[in-house]
Amino acid sequence: MDGPKEGGLRNVSSTCSISEMDDFDLSRLLDKPRLNIERQRSFDERSLSELSIGLGRGGHDNYENTYSPGARSGFDTPASSTRNSFEPHPMVADAWESLRKSIVYFKGQPVGTIAAVDHASEEVLNYDQVFVRDFVPSALAFLMNGEPEIVKNFLLKTLLLQGWEKRIDRFKLGEGAMPASFKVLHDPERKTDTLIADFGESAIGRVAPVDSGFWWIILLRAYTKSTGDMTLSETPECQKGMRLILSLCLSEGFDTFPTLLCADGCSMIDRRMGVYGYPIEIQSLFFMALRSSLSMLKHDTEGNEFIEKIVKRLHALSFHMRSYFWLDFQQLNDIYRYKTEEYSHTAVNKFNVIPDSIPDWVFDFMPTRGGYFIGNVSPARMDFRWFALGNCVAILASLTTPEQSMAIMDLIESRWEELVGEMPLKIAYPAIESHEWRIVTGCDPKNTRWSYHNGGSWPVLLWMLTAACIKTGRPQIARRAIDLAEQRLLKDGWPEYYDGKLGRYVGKQARKYQTWSIAGYLVAKMLLEDPSHLGMISLEEDKQMKPVLKRSSSWTC
Ligand code: GLC
Repeated sequence: MDGPKEGGLRNVSSTCSISEMDDFDLSRLLDKPRLNIERQRSFDERSLSELSIGLGRGGHDNYENTYSPGARSGFDTPASSTRNSFEPHPMVADAWESLRKSIVYFKGQPVGTIAAVDHASEEVLNYDQVFVRDFVPSALAFLMNGEPEIVKNFLLKTLLLQGWEKRIDRFKLGEGAMPASFKVLHDPERKTDTLIADFGESAIGRVAPVDSGFWWIILLRAYTKSTGDMTLSETPECQKGMRLILSLCLSEGFDTFPTLLCADGCSMIDRRMGVYGYPIEIQSLFFMALRSSLSMLKHDTEGNEFIEKIVKRLHALSFHMRSYFWLDFQQLNDIYRYKTEEYSHTAVNKFNVIPDSIPDWVFDFMPTRGGYFIGNVSPARMDFRWFALGNCVAILASLTTPEQSMAIMDLIESRWEELVGEMPLKIAYPAIESHEWRIVTGCDPKNTRWSYHNGGSWPVLLWMLTAACIKTGRPQIARRAIDLAEQRLLKDGWPEYYDGKLGRYVGKQARKYQTWSIAGYLVAKMLLEDPSHLGMISLEEDKQMKPVLKRSSSWTC
């Protein structure tokens, strides 16, 4: 294996600190046996102001305590099901078997999971590759099951790929860019394994994945939290990898907003869907990656430079998102009554949004109680669509205030039919159709209304919903969603996505045995069984970041 040798990795099961859940009583979450979990103050709890450089505090001093050792189960046994007294659902065993079949090896070492193992599909396209974003739920499943090796190998392999020179035609991409996906080519005669990677130069649409680097950082933190092995994140290679990713998004330019400007198709929604500009998915991942880096960057000269920039950006970003992306009944009413063409610092309607551009559907969709981060905010443009990933990650990263997190959960409950329907979870709501679909998607036949990225239902999102539910103390919402998934997923062969207004139909071009549908289900189950896993992918609210919005109806009633 390339990269640093295995250091002091302890063979521990994946339990981690529960400190990030200190805000509420765990017992409320569980009608199941109460877990014996140590509560500790972790590094994540330290406020940003404490972290500004010059205080001379190390970044990792509490890492030592972020896991509690436990026995590892046999290789094929899901540890989480044996650890507690739950009767595992019959689907769980099938899911583990399928997940293991998707493992990709490089020189005999597991390095990732293939996107889909669909032998029936005629078109392979790039589904035989290891996608960075797709591997995240697989990685979490392995970590939760006490199998960190594949995650470590993946992190190191992708780090090597980051070092490649990346070109699209004659244009050289930024040094820090992480690949969307990679593939291992086996030559049985020469007995060699070769890697090929795609940074956007082969991808449909030729867009570089902005989310890959962020997921990489988030996964490095999950690995560290889960195993207690700090030797990996502390290696000069990992520190440099993080800094390179951060340089790409913290560089100064012409921006007037702290949000990150992106092209269409640069994330999970990897085709034109009108999400260019400042899409919520990227802003939430950006925020989470910044906070995760803050806990892992070393306080040396190079690290400190970044830490200072991150702290400033986090303050500005959370203010911007909580103020301008947030929509609830009150905010909608305010926007509806906006004056336009205001000039100067006193403007209320800062981005000059014309109230006539508010789509009709949002007036009916908005419950009296509840709210969400809208899809995009830029000059004279608010994309009012709901995007599940961005909202769930915003909760997990504590980009939302606790009140906003609750309001998002209220919205999901009161708009269950629209956002969940018969198969969790709609990637976006509502779908765009007719003329708008032609203009916005460029007549994309895969993204027709209520299909694929255009209002399709993606089982992979179940893990993020479950994590958000646990964090907000609403596990019953996750249970309801998991029940729905259990009625169909296995029977339908673990499809990539479902179509239709209620998500009743297996997606027109959906792959079967889509790995992240399988892994997403497993992660959701393990999170519910043992909520202490949440600490891997959740960050507690920074008490120093004060809510900026006045209390509105959705928070108080
Ligand atoms: C599709 C999805 C993308 C995913 C890839 C592999 O292109 O849009 O998000 O990473 O398939 O599953």
